[in-house]
Amino acid sequence: MPVKRVAVLVSGSGSNLQKLIDHQDGYQVELVVSDKEESYGLERAKSAGIEAIHLDLSQAENYSRLLDLVEDMDLVVLAGYMRILPKDFVQALEGRIINLHPSILPKHGGMGMHGLNVHQAVLEAGEPVTGASVHYVDSGVDTGEVIDCQLVNVYHGDSPQSLQERVQRAEHIILPKVVSKLLKGK
Ligand code: GRF
Repeated sequence: MPVKRVAVLVSGSGSNLQKLIDHQDGYQVELVVSDKEESYGLERAKSAGIEAIHLDLSQAENYSRLLDLVEDMDLVVLAGYMRILPKDFVQALEGRIINLHPSILPKHGGMGMHGLNVHQAVLEAGEPVTGASVHYVDSGVDTGEVIDCQLVNVYHGDSPQSLQERVQRAEHIILPKVVSKLLKGK
């Protein structure tokens, strides 16, 4: 069976990208694209011998270049990619594009729900449990079908930062697991 090809889009440190690179069970990360030239995710890719490209995606016309780069991939993974994607780009990849989100969706998703904002909202809502979700990307923000979640307890005295660290450990487990599962057809 030909190896399944994965492209990863990042904007920041790429710790989840690193877990995908370390795992590579049933797939290969073949391309990493960042909208930020300084993204450490690009360095991680280069260190692993993976093609790493910076594209200025504040310019809508560059999405056609991005689509050219990823349309032959088996899966496109948004791992800390911080821009809203154009609808036609998402439609072209329907069923082959997934995102990682640091809450149990549909709770605490949507516009503005990123970084510490998510964990702050979880604490303010008094949730006993939060976690990480992997979902298909659709034309909304964090609204696509959820594929899997990893639960994380919220403890008395947690701060947004302590919760973020715990949820990030859950993200590092669930993302490679889901990518392998999808691409092995399980
Ligand atoms: C993760 O928390 C993810 O849920 C969110 O962005 C963060 C990316 O972290 N969408 P990293 O760049 O993988 O370290």
